[in-house]
Amino acid sequence: MKIDVFTLFPSWFDWFAGQRHVRNACAGTLELGFVDMRATTPLTAGQVDDTPYGGGAGMVIRVDVVEAALRARYGTDPREHEPGRRVVAMAAGGRQFDDALANELAAAEQLTLLCGRYEGFDERVNEHLATDVVSIGPYVLAGGELAAMVVCDAVIRKLPGALGHADSAIEESFSEALGGAPEYPHYTRPVDWHGQRVPEILLSGDHARIADWRRARSAERLEERSKS
Ligand code: ADE
Repeated sequence: MKIDVFTLFPSWFDWFAGQRHVRNACAGTLELGFVDMRATTPLTAGQVDDTPYGGGAGMVIRVDVVEAALRARYGTDPREHEPGRRVVAMAAGGRQFDDALANELAAAEQLTLLCGRYEGFDERVNEHLATDVVSIGPYVLAGGELAAMVVCDAVIRKLPGALGHADSAIEESFSEALGGAPEYPHYTRPVDWHGQRVPEILLSGDHARIADWRRARSAERLEERSKS
C-alpha cells in the first residue's frame, strides 16, 4: 500500500515515521511519503492561503495550491479520481473516522491524506479533489496533521507485518470479530496486585469458557457505552 500525506508541516511527521510499527510496515509493503504543499505552490513567495470570500476570520487553503501539489506528485489531473486511490481531506466536519472506515482505507491501493490548516480548505478541494472528507472527532484541531497521524496509525496497524502478533489487530475493540463492540479487558502478571486478583477463569486454561467470558465482557462494555 502507498500512503502520501500532503501537509504544510512535513516535519511534524518525523517522529511518527520513526515509530517501530511504522518502520516495520515500511520494511514490508508500505510506502509512506510526505509532500510539502508549499513546495509546488503556483503563487509567489510560497503563498498557500488567502482570505475568505464573504469575510470572516482566518485564512483558507487555496484549491489551486492543493491541485498543483497533487498534479506534481501523481502527474495526472487530480479532478479525475484514479481507481484504487482514496483522497481524504481531513476536516472537523467530515465523516466520523471509525474502525470500519480504517478497514476500508487499509484495503485501498493508495491513500492520500490532505491536511488542512487555518480555517481549512477551500470547499472545492473537498468537492472536486477529495474522494472523502474525514473527521477524527467532533472538535476542532489547529490543523489536519494530528488527525492524519491518527488515520495513518489506525490504517498502518492493519497492514500485514506492522504488529508483532498478526492476531492482535483482528480481535480488538470495535472490530468485526467482536461485532463492533469494545474489546474485553486484558490482564497479565502479577496474578495478585494489592489483593486485586486476575479473574480466575483466565487462569483456568479452558479456552472455550475464556472465549465466552471475553465475549460477555465485551458485550457488557458495549451496553455501558450505550448508556453514557
Ligand atoms: N482538522 C481540524 N480538526 C479536525 C478534526 N477533528 N478531524 C480531522 N481534521 C481536522
